[in-house]
Order: sequence, then C-alpha cells, then structure tokens
Amino acid sequence: MSAVPAGRSLIDVDTLNASDVETIFDQASRHLDAADELSSQPLRGRNVALLFAEPSTRTRLSFEIAARGLGAETYVIEPGASSMVKGETLVDTTRNLAALGFDMLVLRHHRAGAAAVAARHFSGSVVNAGDGWHAHPTQALLDLFTLRRALGGAHGMRGRKVVIVGDVRHSRVAKSNAWTLAGAGADVWLVGPRPWLRGVENLPATLTSDLEAGLTGAAAVMGLRVQRERMGGSSLSIDEYAEHFQITERRLARAAPDAYFMHPGPINEGIEVTREVARGPRSLVLEQVRNGVPVRMAVLALLGGPLTAPQPRDMSMAGR
Ligand code: CP
Repeated sequence: MSAVPAGRSLIDVDTLNASDVETIFDQASRHLDAADELSSQPLRGRNVALLFAEPSTRTRLSFEIAARGLGAETYVIEPGASSMVKGETLVDTTRNLAALGFDMLVLRHHRAGAAAVAARHFSGSVVNAGDGWHAHPTQALLDLFTLRRALGGAHGMRGRKVVIVGDVRHSRVAKSNAWTLAGAGADVWLVGPRPWLRGVENLPATLTSDLEAGLTGAAAVMGLRVQRERMGGSSLSIDEYAEHFQITERRLARAAPDAYFMHPGPINEGIEVTREVARGPRSLVLEQVRNGVPVRMAVLALLGGPLTAPQPRDMSMAGR
C-alpha cells in the first residue's frame, strides 16, 4: 500500500512505490520552482513536533523550514531538556505528544526501528528523520531528486552508474539510497572496506572493496561520513581509510567525464573526500541541502493532507 496518503507514516523508502516517488517529486518541484505561489499553507492549524534524539543540522532545520512554510506550528523538543533524561521511554514520550494534540512527529533517534515503534503509539503521522543504522528516507528522496535534476530527469537515471563509497554498514543514508536509486533504474554500487560492507548483502547493488572498479564510468559518486561514533571495535583506522578510499580528483578521473560528487553531510573533509572535490564545480552537496526543504515540504504536505474542521482529537488511543 502507498505510504503517501494522509495520516500514514514514512518509516523507510521501501513503502513507497514508483508512483509515490513521482507524486512527492512533482510536489517538491512545485515548491522549488514556484514557492511564492504555493501560499495555501496546507498544514495551517497543524502542530508538528520535531524530536531529535541525535544531533542534526540539515535535517532538523529543513524539516522546520518546510513545516513552517506549509503553515504548521513547529515545536522542537530537546531530549536533554525533556523528561527523557528522567528515564521516560520513547513510547511514553510519543503517547504524551499524541495526548498533547500533535498531528505529526518528525523523529531522529539513535536506535534502528525507533520511528516504527513511535508510529505504533502516535495518532498522527511519524516521519523518520534517521533511525540508527536503519533508514533515512527523506535524505534518499532528496538525493534522488537532486541527482535526477542534474542528470536531466527520470530518463537520465536509467542505467547510469551511481557509486556510494564508505561506511556503508553503519549508514542509514546508503541503505535508503540504494533502494531509491535502484528503483529509479540506476546501476548502484556500494564500495568500502570489507568490514563496512557486511550486513548489507540484501541491498540492490554491486558490493566491492575495489574503489577503482567502483568509480570506473560512474555518473555520480556519493561519499559517506565515516561514523566514528558507530565504529565500535573496528580494526580500520581513519588514516588507513583515507589512504585507500578518500575521493580525490585523481581517483574521480576514473568516473565518467563530468561525474557529480554528492554527500549527505556532515562531511569530514580530508577523510572521506578532499576539499577540492567536496567544494568543486561538480559537487552537488549544497544543492542536496537546498533540495531538502522542497522535498520535505512535499512529504509533510502529502502525509498531513487537507485539514477537515473540526479536527477530532482521539485521546483514548483506541485503534492503535
Ligand atoms: N544528512 C543529514 O542527515 O545531516 P544532519 O545530520 O545534519 O541532519
């Protein structure tokens, strides 16, 4: 079933079919190209909670800008200043947010599966803003939206090689991106040190530790942040990683002429990529950030749906 209809949640991209993605992109394009004309503010009267239990710059701010642009009231919950520090569980926090009348919950959490758990206890829509190693659906959508525009539209994606390089195992971005890029017809490659390719064999992609083979002929190369906080007992050092896998101008020369460089951010310049590539003329990094707003506007507007007055508040938690 489609994940786009109003009232549903967006936990990962696997619930979106090709038509859902087109619907989101059509709406995002309208927000991007004619923002001033879209002043109907479909989320006017809605309350959107932004609960980020992990640090964020791009995702949090773009969701907040997007929700406000749609007319919603936004409330940022700082976990460190909430009752979560007193031991309140995510489930209880979610139930209380529902009782307070929040219509939507945008959740980032360090635990994989947190957004799905929250969705079971929340009366409105939950949008996963990144849960542990699991998924980051709106990042994947904005990445595909950005690359599609750069490559000339939906047809420009078909059969093109897109290479994601780095800490794939710990990356929710890589996992969600593999599904959306493959769904768009791209030839997806995941490249990294062997330990960082473990556990991702189910993804629709070619896996290799051979960076040269991965880069050869690529239309786009996406770097991933080396996630020091999730590395645990990894035997690989940062210096070793940079030596063998850093995206440099010289290595990028193996890709197709005019290949794009992408990165979800935050970037460790000098580790996963050189500054000249990250900030160079083929970098789409800031375009990805810019597109976060219209794509998230589209997701929020579609999930939020039209407001029917008066909005009943189901305080009983029945039916969940
Ligand atoms: N790409 C991304 O999720 O960035 P933030 O952690 O800054 O939100």
